[in-house]
Amino acid sequence: MIKQFKKIQTKLKNELVCFKDKDHLELYRLGLTYSKDEFYRRGAEINTLELNKSIYRYDIINHILSTFKRPTVYLEIGVRYLEDNFNKIEANTKYSVDPGVENSDNPVDFKVTSDVFFNGLESNKLLDNNTKFDVIFIDGLHLAEQVERDIENALKFLNDDGFIVLHDCNPPTEFHASETYEYRLSPSKDFWNGTTWKAFFKYRQNPNLFSCCIDTDWGVGIISRSKNIGEPTKIKNAYFEYKVFSSNRKESLNLMSFNDFKLRLK
Ligand SMILES: C[S@@+](CC[C@H](N)C(=O)[O-])C[C@H]1O[C@@H](n2cnc3c(N)ncnc32)[C@H](O)[C@@H]1O
Repeated sequence: MIKQFKKIQTKLKNELVCFKDKDHLELYRLGLTYSKDEFYRRGAEINTLELNKSIYRYDIINHILSTFKRPTVYLEIGVRYLEDNFNKIEANTKYSVDPGVENSDNPVDFKVTSDVFFNGLESNKLLDNNTKFDVIFIDGLHLAEQVERDIENALKFLNDDGFIVLHDCNPPTEFHASETYEYRLSPSKDFWNGTTWKAFFKYRQNPNLFSCCIDTDWGVGIISRSKNIGEPTKIKNAYFEYKVFSSNRKESLNLMSFNDFKLRLK
């Protein structure tokens, strides 16, 4: 054991490092393994690339809202901290929904899950069922089944010329697209897009909807009933495999720049 300690001290360019016990030494070795691991290093590079993109979800939402020639109504599902996005949104009427899973002090309009909110809306218990929104931003629980239900419900309360906007549609690696939010020892580090992409991809196949995804801020997906922002995808990915998605990423998502999107909105 003493020999092993000396070996590691040499690797540290003569810096004196003390290992209290075998577990301590093992942790050090694990750290070395992670810092050299190709997936781990690439994950860190990819996070930096994504974070350096300069257009944010609120820039896109505000641009969409600015195209309406009437007072606008905005709904955000999943808010966490008002100042990150909700307070930056320029709409005449705004509603926020969040059960407080990630921030229990969150002062939202409706402190419930999206399912409870939409049920309440449908049964006239929250607002009333004639309420229609111009933009609904879906950014709650990032699991495909929930996101699919959120899109389905959002479509019921969206004006015909309204837009659904979804955060986290373009996970850059399969680690970002994990089903497990809690696991942190991953090349994606703290960044988690979950399986939102699967729900968005499912709706990208719907022949009655137009859709696209802006290549910034982890992929901002947009769905419209009436504005041709992009035709449905023809990509086949019956089992929603990440590798199939990733190798057909541009067409699966109809990935485009914010400038191209703005041209399509004109
Ligand atoms: C990624 S954060 C939202 C970030 C925010 N939209 C922004 O742009 O800064 C996700 C939020 O969804 C909330 N959430 C979790 N489960 C939910 C559910 N079933 N319905 C609605 N919101 C949910 C969490 O409490 C958390 O605050």
